[in-house]
Amino acid sequence: MKRKIIVAITGASGSIYAKLLLDKLSLLTDQIEEIGVVMSDNAKDVWQFELQNEAFKTYTFVFYSKNDFMAPFASGSANFDTMIVCPCSMGTLARIANGTSSDLTTRAADVILKERRKLILVARETPLNLIHLQNMLTVTQAGGIICPASPSFYSQPQCIEDVASTVVDRVISLAGLKIDSYEWGQHRNKL
Ligand SMILES: Cc1cc2nc3c(=O)[nH]c(=O)nc-3n(C[C@H](O)[C@H](O)[C@H](O)COP(=O)(O)O)c2cc1C
Repeated sequence: MKRKIIVAITGASGSIYAKLLLDKLSLLTDQIEEIGVVMSDNAKDVWQFELQNEAFKTYTFVFYSKNDFMAPFASGSANFDTMIVCPCSMGTLARIANGTSSDLTTRAADVILKERRKLILVARETPLNLIHLQNMLTVTQAGGIICPASPSFYSQPQCIEDVASTVVDRVISLAGLKIDSYEWGQHRNKL
């Protein structure tokens, strides 16, 4: 069965993660029926600042405005099965943990959790304070997955895109999509 996925992009550092996620999801149309994207204002600002472009305007996915509560995934009956927040700011994490539902991202996350579907938060901040950690615990207890934007290096990445892909490929795999990426063990004969 093809998947229906929500991608929310917030104003944490790491717009490259969002860009790579959208790029890679664009190539998985055989597995995906529908993708809805929502960006916060800060997400657009940080993307422009970090990547020095407005390439988020070039994707063919449907982009919903941040307060569009008429978006299909603002309701559980639209049957979106997975939501990825990438990158996820501590502000959005806090709002999700507290169930504010004050914009489309937090409403969609609330819906995903109440329907017992898959919520993946690619949280990005360092260091973490007690409030961040407690909010991560709350979301985890509610069934969400905290997948920190923590790159790995055992695949011997050669450029910044390779480094960022170690996070994004893990997220796509967690979402239950099949993607051709490095898996631990592949290097075994090289050691
Ligand atoms: C360049 C830049 C980088 C930022 N990086 C982070 C970050 O890594 N983590 C975070 O929680 N907030 C970060 N922020 C702050 C958030 O953008 C801010 O808290 C905002 O209110 C988040 O709102 P949103 O979740 O609706 O996008 C950053 C802001 C800027 C301008």
